[in-house]
Amino acid sequence: MMKTFSSIFLLCAAQILAIAQPAAQFDKDAKVFRLDGGNVSYVFGVNAKGDLQQMYWGGKLGAGDRFSQAQQRPEWASFDSPYTNTPQEYAGWGAGLFVEPALKVTFADGNRDLVLHYESHTETPHGVDVVLKDIKRYILVTLHYSMDPATGILARSATIENREPQPVTIEQAAAAGWALPPAHYSLNYLTGRWAGEWTLTQETLHPGERVIESRRGTTGHQANPWFAIQSGDPDENHGEVWFGALAWSGSWRITVEQDQLDAVRVTGGFNPFDFGYVLHPGQSLDTPVFYGGYSAYGLGGASRMLHHFELAHVLPHRLGEGEAAAPKPRPVIYNSWEATEMNVTEAGQEALAEKAAELGVDRFVMDDGWFGQRKTDHAGLGDWYVNQEKFPQGLKPLIDKVHALGMDFGLWVEPEMVNPDSDLYRKHPEWVLNFAGRPRSEERTQLVLNLARPDVRAYVMGFLDKLLTENDIAFLKWDYNRNWSEPGWDQLPPAEQKKVYVEFIRNLYGILGELKKRHPKVEFESCSGGGGRVDLGILQYADEVWPSDNTDPFDRISQQDGFTYVYTPQIMMAWVTDSPHWANKRATSLEYRMLSSMQGSLGIGANISKWTDQEMSTAKRLIASYHQVQPTIVQGDLYRLISPRNGSEFSATQTVNHDKSQSVIFAFVHSTQEGRGFPRLKLMGLDPAAEYALTPIEGSVAKDTPAVASGSWWMNHGLGMSEEFRGDFQGAAFRLDKK
Ligand code: GLA
Repeated sequence: MMKTFSSIFLLCAAQILAIAQPAAQFDKDAKVFRLDGGNVSYVFGVNAKGDLQQMYWGGKLGAGDRFSQAQQRPEWASFDSPYTNTPQEYAGWGAGLFVEPALKVTFADGNRDLVLHYESHTETPHGVDVVLKDIKRYILVTLHYSMDPATGILARSATIENREPQPVTIEQAAAAGWALPPAHYSLNYLTGRWAGEWTLTQETLHPGERVIESRRGTTGHQANPWFAIQSGDPDENHGEVWFGALAWSGSWRITVEQDQLDAVRVTGGFNPFDFGYVLHPGQSLDTPVFYGGYSAYGLGGASRMLHHFELAHVLPHRLGEGEAAAPKPRPVIYNSWEATEMNVTEAGQEALAEKAAELGVDRFVMDDGWFGQRKTDHAGLGDWYVNQEKFPQGLKPLIDKVHALGMDFGLWVEPEMVNPDSDLYRKHPEWVLNFAGRPRSEERTQLVLNLARPDVRAYVMGFLDKLLTENDIAFLKWDYNRNWSEPGWDQLPPAEQKKVYVEFIRNLYGILGELKKRHPKVEFESCSGGGGRVDLGILQYADEVWPSDNTDPFDRISQQDGFTYVYTPQIMMAWVTDSPHWANKRATSLEYRMLSSMQGSLGIGANISKWTDQEMSTAKRLIASYHQVQPTIVQGDLYRLISPRNGSEFSATQTVNHDKSQSVIFAFVHSTQEGRGFPRLKLMGLDPAAEYALTPIEGSVAKDTPAVASGSWWMNHGLGMSEEFRGDFQGAAFRLDKK
């Protein structure tokens, strides 16, 4: 339809208005702040006492809707004061606060009472900075609010500044506090362990506090810094969901608390366990960012929103191509780890590279074993020179060969670690995290370098910069294979040593940021023995992540399901490895393994030197099909049609690209029971009026399925699978293309 002049004018006027309209509105009389973005409004205000109080978070309100001034909640008998009953935006611990505080400090004179009141505010391009001040002491807290206009996802963080003449110790600092009114809610969060990450845990919210955390110095496999609270019971497609994800790769904590009056309070930030950050006069501390979002379309709606936000605003963008250049779909990689482990040699890697190129792989990655005296995991970490026995002429011949085969080259590193059996440790035993005179607990015979130390930071920066300068490397898989123990930092006075929890991570981010600047074309993967370091903090620098060392294709279907509640399939690397799988001794077909990995960013990690011609041609065919639809799979809208959780016999996912011109469907039979056929898949997110042609990628559909049908047909009648789609560990995939 042609646009009329007046509709163009109206459009322009609306755009001008949208630009002119500040992201945050402040109603001076009522002292109310309001942020609108996407379909979300977030409202808070200053009550008569001066507290900054949360007032509303949910579906977008009318443009003319006004709030009157925030009202402190009344006292509940003599046991719960208005201060504790009122949902504070950022509660200082003081004045009889019994719920979780956002900030707890100790002043030099022993005073530990902190009551924060509104002081001033400044508008920012996408939101507002609100300054709070203690009622007596010169402690300033600036709360930063920035709302994404497209999704309504709100980025919140705090800067705590000491303007007292004496030092102040911060014992607990959250990035933000979120609040919801009393109702029946369920809580969703992710738990796991090494080789078993990404289990979606769902439970009814009960009175008391649920703590989701890592005390490990890093993000951890055991829990991920994300929560989703759903109104009522968990529902994939319907109902209100409030969610949050913390951008921090150090020890972190999220608390979800149903308080004494049944309201819900959430905090998230640095883990207060063993925490202590001394602020000298004039110093300040920035917390990580805690992102929060709202969807009215269930957990599926929440994760689709988060995926878009990550692609648009969190992940590193293509440098030099401007803001709008979204991350590219990942190259299909080959990684040698499961094929050779540390037994890497020039000839062996070159042979694998030849086979990988035949398959249509885009990037060849050499894993652990190429450096120092690295023959087993007992030695070598810290010595980042090329092993002369394995690569007599350095890495160049292998890299040249990989390039000549039409692939780019990637390499494994584990920069923050050292084996006691290494030149580095012999020279600098003082560089590791340790308490003087105490044992140094080894894990995988390695210790953690104290990256908070300026000399360690300089060393790590130096060898990585040299490696990337001297070699044509497109990609680093940055690994991190243990958690902290004995986290001492004896360069600093005792009272300051706990700063290690913050400075280590700041230096990690600093190094990654600097490397990105100096080597803009180099891409990074965040790996930590699988999915131990996946969070929105590291994802500002990492182009992809390794979700788990467990590559069993059946386990991966569930792990990938859990992973996508928070993270986009764009970053979810998934390798096809050998069968039977080492973890479960389960044998599966190559087709099934390929399809399981094709749900994310595909890679091959098998010993392809042993593959038969048949296996080579199956993989080659499916890699070619994958390349054709990869942008839809990894950057489209993801619908989890049938969940693999709770021992389901089946599972299915569907992705739809942004203009709804293509959709890709994956279906898996885990184990047919009692002859049950695969349920008809009612697809989602298509254009109802458009015609879509169906093409099988693998497997076949029910005989009566039309070759072309409307979006309405596929969504209402649904897609039926072939009667043959039964058995154990079967997979099928289809694409729909708009005619
Ligand atoms: C970790 C990674 C693996 C592999 C090994 C190498 O376990 O997750 O993929 O790189 O280290 O030692």
